[in-house]
Amino acid sequence: MKRTIEVRLTLNGEPRSERVDSRLLLVELIRDALDAKGTRIGCLTGDCGACTVLLDGEVRKSCLVLAASISGNDVRTIEGLSGIEALQEAFIAENGFQCGFCTSGMLIAAADLLRHNSSPSHEEIRHAISGNLCRCTGYESIVNAIHRAAHGDKTCAAADDLG
Ligand code: FES
Ligand code: FES
Repeated sequence: MKRTIEVRLTLNGEPRSERVDSRLLLVELIRDALDAKGTRIGCLTGDCGACTVLLDGEVRKSCLVLAASISGNDVRTIEGLSGIEALQEAFIAENGFQCGFCTSGMLIAAADLLRHNSSPSHEEIRHAISGNLCRCTGYESIVNAIHRAAHGDKTCAAADDLG
């Protein structure tokens, strides 16, 4: 017999509630029931980071969270992430995406990094996005984009590499 549970959460600042199957994943709740399709489903095993969201302000892979475990929590997806214009512009300027499948997860990881560290080194950026896989870019352009968003331009990135 299917067991369903009433889930309440705040999604991108809006109170939402939904009755869900007890086995439903948070990423499935976000995308399918609550229609926030910017969060992607990749591996469903916690490896790719495509499903990254902020859960009560912490970076979390939403395929590793049961929707039924949510109880009044704050969930923020790429659709509700404010103040990321500089990051988005930097991703465009540095060709930080190709197919774009990883991008929403990358942007959330990057925004969280910049929230805690406004002047990250390349190494710190690589560490911050180490849970997010990209099949297309080879990562260098993503690292440069996050560095550009933090430091302004590529000249700074080169200087950073020189230590
Ligand atoms: S879909 Fe969640 S980590 Fe890949
Ligand atoms: S841009 Fe295609 S997976 Fe990252």
